[in-house]
Amino acid sequence: MSDKKVQVYDSEDVLAVSLAKYTSNLSQKFCKERTSFTVVLSGGSLIKSLRKLLEPPYIDSLEWSKWHVFWVDERVVPKDHRDSNYLLAFDGFLSKIPIPTGNVYAINDALSAEGAAEDYETCIKHLVSSGIIATSEATGFPKFDLMLLGMGPDGHVASLFPGHPLVKEDKKWVTFIKDSPKPPPERITFTFPVINASEHIALVVAGAGKAGVVHTALGDGQNSEVLPVQMVSPEGELTWFLDKEAASKL
Ligand code: 6PG
Repeated sequence: MSDKKVQVYDSEDVLAVSLAKYTSNLSQKFCKERTSFTVVLSGGSLIKSLRKLLEPPYIDSLEWSKWHVFWVDERVVPKDHRDSNYLLAFDGFLSKIPIPTGNVYAINDALSAEGAAEDYETCIKHLVSSGIIATSEATGFPKFDLMLLGMGPDGHVASLFPGHPLVKEDKKWVTFIKDSPKPPPERITFTFPVINASEHIALVVAGAGKAGVVHTALGDGQNSEVLPVQMVSPEGELTWFLDKEAASKL
């Protein structure tokens, strides 16, 4: 059972300030102890919430050269396509920090969904072997230092959707989906064993449109099936970052 905290902020801006402090504290801790700090990004509105890290004191003080950045999921589109999670993160965040290009692990956009998932899993395996990514002693799955997750209004996280058989995948590290209910339909995604091996997960949720599902996940809301977001249970610590609109039904 993970250590779970729920933090509610007055606005998305205040949430972003707190997320920056949280990420910065973890960056300092891991960079002091290790030669790498492994950070996993999501698509969607999450990137916008990271914008405070681009401001002082963070932009000038974080050890960006030790950051290694990954994606929890990606859409099977070219990297310069408007639906690409890589492009979103590059334009909004990565192009503005002094991170070595070789430490940014984009999903290969020249491959099919199957090929890209296999290729990303191989890449992660190499980085585990070389000690850049840690390993969960309990499960043997890769253990990322910080995973930043968004949540859809249906309760999906990464590209793991309610009622889809992929939520039960327990062997692969990275897999693909060709019938995603959220467009575009073809995506690759980390599986739950990888998500849940994480040392820290920040679940960042804002806006009134998510209040119902936040209530289901954290309050006394009723649902007939377990939502993917309710399956997020890391070995380490889970922190929900909610704005007051997303938390309005709690
Ligand atoms: C994706 C994302 C996805 C996202 C949620 C929340 O590629 O679609 O990684 O899992 O994080 O859908 O997105 P919003 O914050 O934009 O609602």
